[in-house]
Amino acid sequence: MTATTPTAPAVLGTPLSPTATRVMLLGAGELGKEVLIALQRLGVETIAVDRYDHAPGQQVAHHARTIAMSDAEALRALILAERPALVVPEIEAIATPMLEELEAQGVVRVIPTARAARLTMDREGIRRLAAETLGLPTSPYRFCSSLDELRSAIEGEAGQGGIGYPCIVKPVMSSSGKGQSKLDGPADVERAWQAAMAGGRVSHGRVIVEGFIDFDYEITLLTVRALGEGGAVQTHFCAPIGHLQVSGDYVESWQPHPMSPLALQRAQDIARAVTADLGGLGLFGVELFVKGDQVWFSEVSPRPHDTGMVTMITQGQSEFELHARAILGLPVDTALLRPGASAVIYGGVEGAAVVFDGVADALRIPQTDLRLFGKPESFAKRRMGVALAHDADAEQARERARRAAACVKPRLA
Ligand SMILES: Nc1ncnc2c1ncn2[C@@H]1O[C@H](COP(=O)(O)OP(=O)(O)OP(=O)(O)O)[C@@H](O)[C@H]1O
Ligand SMILES: [Mg+2]
Repeated sequence: MTATTPTAPAVLGTPLSPTATRVMLLGAGELGKEVLIALQRLGVETIAVDRYDHAPGQQVAHHARTIAMSDAEALRALILAERPALVVPEIEAIATPMLEELEAQGVVRVIPTARAARLTMDREGIRRLAAETLGLPTSPYRFCSSLDELRSAIEGEAGQGGIGYPCIVKPVMSSSGKGQSKLDGPADVERAWQAAMAGGRVSHGRVIVEGFIDFDYEITLLTVRALGEGGAVQTHFCAPIGHLQVSGDYVESWQPHPMSPLALQRAQDIARAVTADLGGLGLFGVELFVKGDQVWFSEVSPRPHDTGMVTMITQGQSEFELHARAILGLPVDTALLRPGASAVIYGGVEGAAVVFDGVADALRIPQTDLRLFGKPESFAKRRMGVALAHDADAEQARERARRAAACVKPRLA
């Protein structure tokens, strides 16, 4: 069953009262924290759920709850106890079939839809939808459930051509580049299979192998489905965001990224098609690869995107404010105000309750800003904060953001 998209804005009430508009975030990391702040500003009563205590978003919400969101029964019990008007997934690792069940029963509305949350948590769901149902251009791909299958998918067998080298192997359920490898030849296959088995979110035993796209650049096209004045859903696009990924994890992003008119048109057409199929209201991060005028769909998040943190300094309404407005049925404005960039601040050290040196040095650089997420524990490769900068163009903003990020040094107290 598909969810019905509302045709009128939510009536906003007073938090902590019987009239409250209650919204539950499933996942309360740095992205959820900003969505929660945007909702708080509209007087929405917020419930932040995460799998550990004192998650960033739990620190700013009215209510904090800690459960394993992949546990269907625990999730159901929490939703039934809290009865939020909206459930907003912020992470992928959620018992989404349970969300579909509750949505079908009319218990909650899931953002953008429970089906979208299910399809996008699994690379197989979204890739088959995009390539096979919607006919969108993607890298060539195969799904495999064993090392032998992987080898024949790459090298071909019985007269059937394979994906060939170079290629990329990823667990079907993983994010931030976890368990992902690039393969340059037959000697890399076994190592890639092992890495995918170790790096997947759940030991699913399944991978996607994708032909390597030799793109000129990659972008995130933030796409918003919001209610127009007459109650119909309209699709809005933000200016393209360029980004740099290291080992499948984003380290820098900037906006706008220049594109040819034809490539931009194709990117918007792809984003419109995939978000229209996923449906509902809210902001989506559509990841695309571009070479000349050619555009490939890579994947989509039905929620704010990490590379979109740059919009906190470039747009009148950040991606988080756009998401908050859109899900409540309110009008949005995706206008870019000025070029800008973001640069990630990694933990660097392992331990709890780290302190941050160099914050003043970072903020002394003109036209910069900072977000420290407040994560209780640091890991070497954990994202602990982000530096933001604006400038006359995106290149100069990148330089400024990198400089600011480099000033901030987490250390053990
Ligand atoms: N087929 C491909 N060809 C070339 N590069 C690729 C391909 N697939 C992935 N990449 C590179 O690896 C990055 C991460 O891939 P992908 O987005 O699929 O992984 P992810 O784990 O979902 O990452 P995230 O959660 O950060 O979005 C891409 O942004 C791109 O830079
Ligand atoms: Mg990605």
